[in-house]
Amino acid sequence: MKKKLIIGNWKMNPVSSREARKIFTGIKTAASALKKVGVVIAPPFVFLPELVKGYRGKKIVFGAQDVSFEQKGSYTGEVSAPMLKDFGVKYVIVGHSERRALGENNELVHKKVLSVLGQHMTAVLCIGERERDRDATYFTFLKAQIVTALRSVEPTQLKKLVIAYEPVWAIGKSAKDAMKPHDIHQMVVFIRKVLTELYEKKVALSVPILYGGSVESGNAETLITEGEVAGFLVGHASLEPQEFNDILSIVERS
Ligand code: PGA
Repeated sequence: MKKKLIIGNWKMNPVSSREARKIFTGIKTAASALKKVGVVIAPPFVFLPELVKGYRGKKIVFGAQDVSFEQKGSYTGEVSAPMLKDFGVKYVIVGHSERRALGENNELVHKKVLSVLGQHMTAVLCIGERERDRDATYFTFLKAQIVTALRSVEPTQLKKLVIAYEPVWAIGKSAKDAMKPHDIHQMVVFIRKVLTELYEKKVALSVPILYGGSVESGNAETLITEGEVAGFLVGHASLEPQEFNDILSIVERS
């Protein structure tokens, strides 16, 4: 059985490197005992080098929260995929809804996916509808997010792809506001269907689909077992070591 995957997205937190080290220290011991769960920590760019250099373990791998679509050059403020690779980053979150809210569209997300895959890192493609409407147009919306992002992505590159389904309306709240497991499962089936329209079934089925949006220790168990996801993308709960470690051990036992 494939390992489950839990990605901690720290977003623009914490404010100091001292705090970043403290949170990381609080997670690494619990992570070292895991056998069935892979852990990715995605801190802000500025904390990556010191966390990577200071970590001697093997269980945690590092992720970035964003990337430029260009390789190098005159792009003020941007960080490129080759730079991230050089830092030791293995996963890159692409198209998070908070980036999309700042203006990223499907075309830009597509270029970023290619940039990450071009460096043989894993792209964590985030998709998710802003709201649910009675006519269910969110299915079309999600399909466009997937189809555009994966345009010209070769079947062999799908080994390095993870899809994180994060309905925007469920992000940053608390466990009771997360999507219901049954609905998550329905979305997983839908995403798989879109993937099988684009790729051979075997390849399409191999892409891990994560859920994100108010995952906490209080709902992790039902979400993982009934939602039938390959893991989680965790936001606020990943900044509290105790809470995050509880999620890790719940998934390890599930
Ligand atoms: P949340 O964030 O767990 O705080 O809802 C999830 C995310 O935005 O990735």
